[in-house]
Amino acid sequence: MREIIYLSTARAGTTEATVESILEKSRAKNAEDSVHGALLFDGVHFLQLIEGEHETIGELFKVIEADKRHHKIVKIVDEPIKELRFAEWLMAYIPFSEFRNSKSVAECTKLFDRLNKKDLQPDEARFLFDRLYLSLWKSGATIKK
Ligand SMILES: Cc1cc2nc3c(=O)[nH]c(=O)nc-3n(C[C@H](O)[C@H](O)[C@H](O)COP(=O)(O)O)c2cc1C
Repeated sequence: MREIIYLSTARAGTTEATVESILEKSRAKNAEDSVHGALLFDGVHFLQLIEGEHETIGELFKVIEADKRHHKIVKIVDEPIKELRFAEWLMAYIPFSEFRNSKSVAECTKLFDRLNKKDLQPDEARFLFDRLYLSLWKSGATIKK
């Protein structure tokens, strides 16, 4: 099993509706390929975690990287994993509106900024991703599964 976390910048004009349509298709494909993970969108950036079989994740990342709906893709984690961490979700999603309205928006922005540093170690990046996810979840953000 393999886990990849990356950050990217959404193409200008990206709305929640754009993301919803990306997700609709992604979830169908992810279900076929047993890919799981989570996607965050703060209105400007995407932060996505994908996990599944080693080869599948490698191929999917190539496809995602080539997608013109975002650019400046920075891979921050690419590690083998023993077990899936998001097994029960195909691609969980926290939309921008939830992000913006969240009580912990300041913390989330800080974490996003720290994730954006290129010299992060995988363990730290993973820890930050989880913190970010958890703090959004705790602040009552709706997680669409
Ligand atoms: C931010 C972002 C995240 C994406 N995540 C996934 C994903 O988890 N799974 C997936 O199959 N496609 C994902 N895609 C879409 C792929 O880049 C690609 O458009 C799609 O898989 C191609 O499907 P098709 O070959 O059937 O047209 C994502 C695209 C973007 C911009």
